[in-house]
Amino acid sequence: MKKSKLALLSWLAIATTSFQIGTAFAGNVDVQNGQTIFNEGKGEAAACMGCHGEKGLGNDGMGAPRLANIGAQYIKKQLDEFAADKRNPEGMGAVMNGFARALTDQDRADVAGYLNSLEYEVEPSDLKGLASDGTKIGNVESGKAIVMRGISGKVPACQDCHGFNGRDPRYPAINQQKFVYLANQLAAFKAGTRTNDPVVLKVGIMRGIAKKLSDDDILDIASFLSTAPRVDPRGDSHAIPKQ
Ligand code: HEC
Ligand code: HEC
Repeated sequence: MKKSKLALLSWLAIATTSFQIGTAFAGNVDVQNGQTIFNEGKGEAAACMGCHGEKGLGNDGMGAPRLANIGAQYIKKQLDEFAADKRNPEGMGAVMNGFARALTDQDRADVAGYLNSLEYEVEPSDLKGLASDGTKIGNVESGKAIVMRGISGKVPACQDCHGFNGRDPRYPAINQQKFVYLANQLAAFKAGTRTNDPVVLKVGIMRGIAKKLSDDDILDIASFLSTAPRVDPRGDSHAIPKQ
């Protein structure tokens, strides 16, 4: 069997293997409490919308991610891991560890549930504006090729696991995510400074993939995903996870 075919098969095996994704999502979610925390904060945790935007669509100026509709279970996992110092962002995001600790386990589930209950909105990153402010951006078409097809023999198609809208509780939606945040995360996985991705066969899934991406690949992917339509351009729309 050709090496690239073998590589693909092993990625598919990983995509379908079950792995631990943190505490199971509790059945009872108080969306109202989640909304209050998001809009007003709670105790030491500042209002989430101050950085993540009124509708949770993120903010390139602050490097803050979109949180709306990216997957409730994924968000709960991230908040738990910020609270446990298993994910330690650099820069402005360093506030997240203390904020997550200021929320109870139920609060984290509530805010995650609220964010997934929002109407889906499209708000692409302003790549032209970023470029004119001196931010290096990439090539949308090259990024699209990697997301849809991967890099032959080297990198699996991002779609294989993420689908287009985030596929099941394990895989966050990465389209319509903000450019600056995407570029930061891929660089952090590549540098090994973000280490909370699930480990399968002794390799951190995203660390293993990001290591094989060049800095230009990262900018290309972030340029495509941050401006990608809501659904798969091939018309194969995946359901938005509603866990
Ligand atoms: C002062 C600005 C600021 C505030 C306020 C803030 N955040 Fe964040 N948050 C960030 C930044 C910046 C990051 C990106 C961290 C990184 O680069 O890894 C982030 C990351 C996150 C992530 C990770 C998302 C992902 O896709 O992995 C979650 C979840 C999150 N924040 C939830 C919240 C919640 C809930 C609140 C309110 C209780 C909140 N944030 C308040 C700035 C903020
Ligand atoms: C084998 C499955 C798999 C493949 C293929 C894959 N990913 Fe991931 N990715 C994951 C998982 C699982 C996570 C969640 C990590 C966590 O739980 O913290 C993730 C997380 C991410 C995140 C962080 C999202 C956020 O909101 O912080 C980004 C960005 C990302 N992947 C981009 C990509 C890109 C770009 C590709 C293609 C080059 C890709 N992924 C291919 C499994 C995969």
